Amino acid sequence: MKLNNYINGSWQEGGGADYAAVVNPANGETLCEVKLSGKQDVDEAVKAAKRAQKEWALVPAPKRADYLYEIGRLMKERKEHLAQVLTKEMGKVIEEGRGEVQEGIDMAFYMAGEGRRLFGETVPSELQDKFAMSVRAPIGVVGLITPWNFPVAIATWKSFPAIVAGNTFIWKPATETPMMAYEMARIFDEVGLPAGVANVVFGSGGEVGTAMIEHPDIRVISFTGSTETGRSVAELGGRHLKKVSLEMGGKNAVIVMDDADLDLAVEGILWSAFGTAGQRCTACSRVIVHRDVKEELEQRLLKQMEGLTIGDGLDESVKIGPVINAPALEKIHSYVEIGKKEGAKLLAGGRILEDGSLKGGYYYEPTLFTDVKWDSRIAQEEIFGPVISLIEVDSLDEAIEVNNSVTYGLSSSIFTRDVNQAFRAQRDLDTGIVYVNAGTTGAEIHLPFGGTKGTGNGHRDSGVAALDVFTEWKSIYVDYSGKLQRAQIDTE
Ligand code: UN1
Repeated sequence: MKLNNYINGSWQEGGGADYAAVVNPANGETLCEVKLSGKQDVDEAVKAAKRAQKEWALVPAPKRADYLYEIGRLMKERKEHLAQVLTKEMGKVIEEGRGEVQEGIDMAFYMAGEGRRLFGETVPSELQDKFAMSVRAPIGVVGLITPWNFPVAIATWKSFPAIVAGNTFIWKPATETPMMAYEMARIFDEVGLPAGVANVVFGSGGEVGTAMIEHPDIRVISFTGSTETGRSVAELGGRHLKKVSLEMGGKNAVIVMDDADLDLAVEGILWSAFGTAGQRCTACSRVIVHRDVKEELEQRLLKQMEGLTIGDGLDESVKIGPVINAPALEKIHSYVEIGKKEGAKLLAGGRILEDGSLKGGYYYEPTLFTDVKWDSRIAQEEIFGPVISLIEVDSLDEAIEVNNSVTYGLSSSIFTRDVNQAFRAQRDLDTGIVYVNAGTTGAEIHLPFGGTKGTGNGHRDSGVAALDVFTEWKSIYVDYSGKLQRAQIDTE
């Protein structure tokens, strides 16, 4: 099967174009082929989106929201099918596949509700007989660039607020995971979204991504991906004066204090570190542990790690699936080698797995390092795989300092029974998301999602905050005095 672009409400054959294989990371088998589009395809999609946007912006927001209710309903109906496709092309275990689809369904219904809010402000004027208010106005055509690790959820975080606010969009999904985008395009088509409102263009970042960022008619670029790519998106976007919203890397930590419920902490750490095989930007990759409970925590982690089954995520009994591809596997393994050279102690894991039923897939053994120095490379750089580094500290202050020592700032967590420590931590942890007595993953769709420092550039996905990315504020003054009143002058 060949996946083709969805532009202006129809599937484009795109004669003579190149195609890339889409591979199941669990066994290396080819699932289908995806079109590698070029600038011309982007131009065509933008033309359609621009034409459609004028009318779409005039559709009342509650009516635009009705499409989202329908999209959510279809996603719900097809939840199991979508989860199966997701697991096949991305590798995460099926339970997490279902969870991710659910995140998209929740976003559909939540953003549909925004169709009846989209709140602005009404404020008093400084002059008599004058009315002052602000409204959210659509921006136009927006470009969405999404990663392979959450091929559907992240796309819904961006596309649903974009359309409820009256924009039309061009979506470039990751080349590794186009099947989810194809499934979503089918849904957009079936609910009858007007032609040109939703467009999916497959292809590489270098070709399609660049063409989108450079296109004068795309006003916003919302990107989730690596910090390296995000930096280039911002550079190029800056030159073209684009509004660029970036969601990038993380180096998230779980802090375990000496009064923590250790069994709960172990559960939280394992779920956050090894869920999605560690390939979440919110994944826990550092554990900052109080010296008095360090050895006990190590023992309990090791014991629980023994029970983790690794394999094809479609098998319900499997807890950890493959990583996305061979380069990812090599990158993870190279970090394990770096860790060893840096003098960290490898307590478990550290191997590429390729025997028996794992042959052909991309599997990495869950890995635990201890005695890791807070400033070593494995404690500072994003690995994006199932590797945990344990760092010992003496106090809450030190734990917070170590947490904040990285260039990223997405998610952090603290396990403690002391309410004073918990509140100090939530104030001082320099991340966009903080958890108390839970791991670093599991953000809910109705709160802002994003991070400080090198994780982002000040924007947020999800929640009402997402609307800030996809709307312009318009301030409106209505003077009903019948005379010219001069603000800042006639105010006495
Ligand atoms: C990501 O890893 O890019 O909080 C998104 C979580 C999920 C989303 C992760 N709800 O882990």
